[in-house]
Amino acid sequence: MKRVAVGVIGTGFWGENQVRVFRQSRMADLVAICDSNKKRAEEMGTKYSVPWYSDPSKFLRVPELEAVTVCTPTQTHLKVGLQAIEAGKNLFVEKPMTGEERAADRLVNSAKKAGVKLLVGFIERFNPGVRAVKKMLTQKVVGDVIIATGRRVARWPIRIGDVGVVKDTAIHDIDAMRYLLEEEVSAVFAQTGSLRTHSYEDYAEIMLRFKEGTTGFIDANWLTPRKVRTLIITGSDATINLDYITQEITLENSQRLVKPFTPWAEPLKLELENFITTILRDTEEAPSGEDALKAIRVCDAALRSGKSKTLVTLNAN
Ligand SMILES: NC(=O)c1ccc[n+]([C@@H]2O[C@H](COP(=O)([O-])OP(=O)(O)OC[C@H]3O[C@@H](n4cnc5c(N)ncnc54)[C@H](O)[C@@H]3O)[C@@H](O)[C@H]2O)c1
Repeated sequence: MKRVAVGVIGTGFWGENQVRVFRQSRMADLVAICDSNKKRAEEMGTKYSVPWYSDPSKFLRVPELEAVTVCTPTQTHLKVGLQAIEAGKNLFVEKPMTGEERAADRLVNSAKKAGVKLLVGFIERFNPGVRAVKKMLTQKVVGDVIIATGRRVARWPIRIGDVGVVKDTAIHDIDAMRYLLEEEVSAVFAQTGSLRTHSYEDYAEIMLRFKEGTTGFIDANWLTPRKVRTLIITGSDATINLDYITQEITLENSQRLVKPFTPWAEPLKLELENFITTILRDTEEAPSGEDALKAIRVCDAALRSGKSKTLVTLNAN
């Protein structure tokens, strides 16, 4: 079986998980890693027995390198991503793909021009629970969907200092809802604010109107002491509850409550396998840079709505 030679750039908290998954993969050869913090790069290189670099341009010159994942802080994604594209590498960029719409647009266009793949880290699409919910929605198990309610709360992860809870956290729910409902957001109303001293919002209650009339509601914050990540789909005939963390599903109507079994699997493993398969089979990227761009637009609309306290409409085509 053909394998893809990959490298990870940014081997902090999340990048280390990617290094671990690639190290165990039968589809990828992890040929190099890079972190601008030399101590961290060396520590990860030694722990996972992989050549390490602290200079991204030297890392990108590793001759066999075909594909790169970007796990650096969000505000560096554009610069690091463009460097990788210029070096001709296929690219997987962690969410949020960039901090701003204009930067996302640049990355999408540059990848297109260079003819390299660009995928984005919307990991929930690879959560087996989400996959099972998608199947149920396709089979119309709940009838017509009325509202999707997402709750994603925890304490503030202090290392995330360059975006707020909307672009760091709620963006997962925005993409998951776009993916599950197969609809675009046409209007956003949000209340946002910050109870802490950092410069970004740490709570957001976001109401989305999807083009066909479905409602999305997202409660995201960095204030709740316990990590909760849930989704409720309320339909005309039944309701689905998903716990993103345990991947458990409950399906309920007025007669019965069932808990369909979905075998647990690590979403990150499935997500990175999808990146590799997309390269090997030369297939369409999903989730793509365009998906990232659309989610960032919804985030920006939520932030604008939070500031202006008004409804913000979007072009939902
Ligand atoms: N998909 C998910 O569920 C998920 C989970 C956690 C984090 N993330 C994303 O991953 C990214 C990284 O988050 P994190 O929590 O690992 O942060 P982190 O601060 O723990 O790690 C970032 C690493 O990048 C290194 N770095 C900074 N600038 C660099 C550069 N220009 N070149 C090379 N290395 C550089 C830092 O030294 C650090 O080790 C963020 O975009 C975050 O949103 C995604």
